[in-house]
Amino acid sequence: MLLNWCCFLAFLLSCLGKFTEGLNALENAGPLSPLKPNVLQDKFASYYVNNTISVKGITIGGWLVTEPYITPSLYRNATLLAKQQNSSGNVSIIDEFTLCKTLGNDASLTLLDNHFKTWITEDDFEQIQADGFNLVRIPIGYWAWKQNTSESLYIDNITYNDPYVSDGLQLKYLNQALDWAQKYELNVWIDLHGVPGSQNGFDNSGERMLYGDLGWLRLNDTKKLTLAVWNKMFQTFLNRGDKSPVVGLEIVNEPLGGKINVSDITDIYYEAFDQFKENQDLSDNTTFVIHDAFQGIGHWNLELNPNYQNVTDYYFNLTRANYSSQDILVDHHHYEVFTDAQLAETQFSRIENIINYGNSIYKELSYHPAVIGEWSGAITDCATWLNGVGVGARYDGSYYNTTLFTTGDKPIGKCTSQNPLSYWTQDYRNRVRQFIEAQLATYSAKTTGWIFWNWKTEDAIEWDYLKLKEAGLFPSPFNNYEYFRTDGSIDEEFSSSLSTQAFPRTATSAFSSATSTSRKSKNFASSNKLKASQMLSIDSMSSIWKMGMCAFVVTIFSFCMLL
Ligand SMILES: *[C@@H]1O[C@H](CO)[C@@H](O)[C@H](O)[C@H]1NC(C)=O
Ligand SMILES: *[C@@H]1O[C@H](CO)[C@@H](O)[C@H](O)[C@H]1NC(C)=O
Ligand SMILES: *[C@@H]1O[C@H](CO)[C@@H](O)[C@H](O)[C@H]1NC(C)=O
Ligand SMILES: *[C@@H]1O[C@H](CO)[C@@H](O)[C@H](O)[C@H]1NC(C)=O
Ligand SMILES: *[C@@H]1O[C@H](CO)[C@@H](O)[C@H](O)[C@H]1NC(C)=O
Ligand SMILES: *[C@@H]1O[C@H](CO)[C@@H](O)[C@H](O)[C@H]1NC(C)=O
Ligand SMILES: *[C@@H]1O[C@H](CO)[C@@H](O)[C@H](O)[C@H]1NC(C)=O
Ligand SMILES: *[C@@H]1O[C@H](CO)[C@@H](O)[C@H](O)[C@H]1NC(C)=O
Ligand SMILES: *[C@@H]1O[C@H](CO)[C@@H](O)[C@H](O)[C@H]1NC(C)=O
Ligand SMILES: *[C@@H]1O[C@H](CO)[C@@H](O)[C@H](O)[C@H]1NC(C)=O
Ligand SMILES: *[C@@H]1O[C@H](CO)[C@@H](O)[C@H](O)[C@H]1NC(C)=O
Ligand SMILES: *[C@@H]1O[C@H](CO)[C@@H](O)[C@H](O)[C@H]1NC(C)=O
Repeated sequence: MLLNWCCFLAFLLSCLGKFTEGLNALENAGPLSPLKPNVLQDKFASYYVNNTISVKGITIGGWLVTEPYITPSLYRNATLLAKQQNSSGNVSIIDEFTLCKTLGNDASLTLLDNHFKTWITEDDFEQIQADGFNLVRIPIGYWAWKQNTSESLYIDNITYNDPYVSDGLQLKYLNQALDWAQKYELNVWIDLHGVPGSQNGFDNSGERMLYGDLGWLRLNDTKKLTLAVWNKMFQTFLNRGDKSPVVGLEIVNEPLGGKINVSDITDIYYEAFDQFKENQDLSDNTTFVIHDAFQGIGHWNLELNPNYQNVTDYYFNLTRANYSSQDILVDHHHYEVFTDAQLAETQFSRIENIINYGNSIYKELSYHPAVIGEWSGAITDCATWLNGVGVGARYDGSYYNTTLFTTGDKPIGKCTSQNPLSYWTQDYRNRVRQFIEAQLATYSAKTTGWIFWNWKTEDAIEWDYLKLKEAGLFPSPFNNYEYFRTDGSIDEEFSSSLSTQAFPRTATSAFSSATSTSRKSKNFASSNKLKASQMLSIDSMSSIWKMGMCAFVVTIFSFCMLL
């Protein structure tokens, strides 16, 4: 019920709100300038000047904040260890919170230290540079600032009870990573991926809470501790001179607007920015990065924007005088595998969605830089534990509490992508490569840049850059497209092959306007060298595409609810 209600609400808000504003065509949007090579001196601030440089980034997820689906063996080991510790205990380790709680300080520290030491090493940074990335996004949890685990003592003498372990361990590895980044001339964006009480209830925030209220900004001291952690982050990572690899600080990953009041999120974004500016020297160019909080495209255009003092004056007393709109960056995440509807998409609409999405983001760039800070190669949700330890996949109907299958509809298909690559059909491989290319081509041409999720995993191939590249499913170099042109436009032959398979006859009842859509597909196929920008002008005329875009937001929203 909650889920349905939330989806409905998200749908309504997305469809009625500012969101539609971002859907309008961008007929005149030409391709952006070509990419420059990466050098450390290319700070974020200069990236954004007329978008001459685009972010080509990779996230090292599942390292300093662990995630079960990225390193299942770590979680299996933890469970075994817990059973050894107490054979009569009922062990349920589903996230880092329960891992630390179940194993206790010493065993958790040993296990995690071993993971931190081995999962990412200098070799990874060397290869990240060699492969052509210019930025590394490094997630870290607030508990990295827990100074004394056994006393639950955080910075600023704040006592906050949680089971996480630290004693400075994660910061030690983060500093090590910054040294490597500097050595290999990689820019770094530090991302606070978990805040006290959890900002989204996903296991990747440290604490999985799929149902009920979230703790962040609601439970005692969660706000106080968050502000203290931010202050410490700003003091530590700003003003480190032009050799510092740190070019961006993302204050909180994916706060779940909808479960957390967006007006509260907005307030605390402003508080954080005030603190940021108080700490930042005039000569420092580090960017203040906010996640869109799952609000529609364009939602943040006027917020934190010095050109709209009528808006910012409401919040600022201290620092409003001195900043440019380039100091702030909005991070959007995009996945298409967290609702039944998205999973049921044809390849045609999947690709079309990406192109339309890129065009909508492009419209934001006159207000602020905007990066697609998370995306993947996934076209199903079949990776083991992607939806959480013990949770199945929507794609094959093994997910509990899913919206569609519980009402009696059939699963979409049989899961295979959780298996080694040798089990994948050629068709599935092609579709993954096409989906990746669509995103690379579109995001490179239409946004401030992109950051792929994720550098590596144990066996979640669609989320694993290294495995995808090795299998020939991720272009190398990044613009070595098979299905797109380097300017981001779609290859003609590819587009016609897609349109013929776009809407199988069996699907007609699900699409009331299937005929007009097919006609559109033919247009798409026959127009010569159709560019992404032109494609949108065709599509924006039809409300079915707007509905499609709304479905996106629902997807992302549901992802929040369910992951
Ligand atoms: C950016 O583009 C605008 C409009 O085209 C131009 O006036 C301005 O000089 C450009 N700035 C830089 C730094 O190239
Ligand atoms: C899990 O335990 C096995 C066997 O002790 C060990 O080889 C492996 O390194 C451990 N993995 C992790 C991630 O802790
Ligand atoms: C072991 O687990 C049992 C059952 O959950 C619990 O009652 C007991 O306190 C645990 N013992 C220890 C030492 O944690
Ligand atoms: C163990 O925990 C699970 C999940 O919390 C629960 O469903 C189950 O009943 C528990 N079993 C026992 C023996 O306590
Ligand atoms: C944490 O506090 C305890 C008790 O005061 C002390 O024995 C221990 O050394 C402290 N640990 C760290 C890492 O400072
Ligand atoms: C923290 O508390 C201790 C003991 O109460 C005190 O000596 C110290 O000055 C406090 N530190 C800060 C930064 O407030
Ligand atoms: C939260 O703070 C309020 C006011 O200080 C207090 O009354 C309440 O008991 C606290 N709740 C918890 C769970 O600590
Ligand atoms: C910040 O950017 C300006 C303009 O590009 C540059 O002159 C300055 O050196 C940069 N500051 C640092 C600390 O890199
Ligand atoms: C969100 O907070 C604002 C300001 O405190 C309040 O007016 C509004 O009713 C809240 N919305 C919800 C859904 O709670
Ligand atoms: C601020 O000004 C802009 C541009 O004039 C306008 O679109 C917006 O509605 C105004 N906002 C407020 C809160 O007054
Ligand atoms: C800014 O200052 C005004 C007047 O002093 C005050 O009413 C307002 O609450 C302050 N705003 C913030 C965000 O601190
Ligand atoms: C399904 O959702 C309900 C609330 O809507 C929740 O109480 C229940 O625990 C969920 N089932 C599982 C297996 O998580």
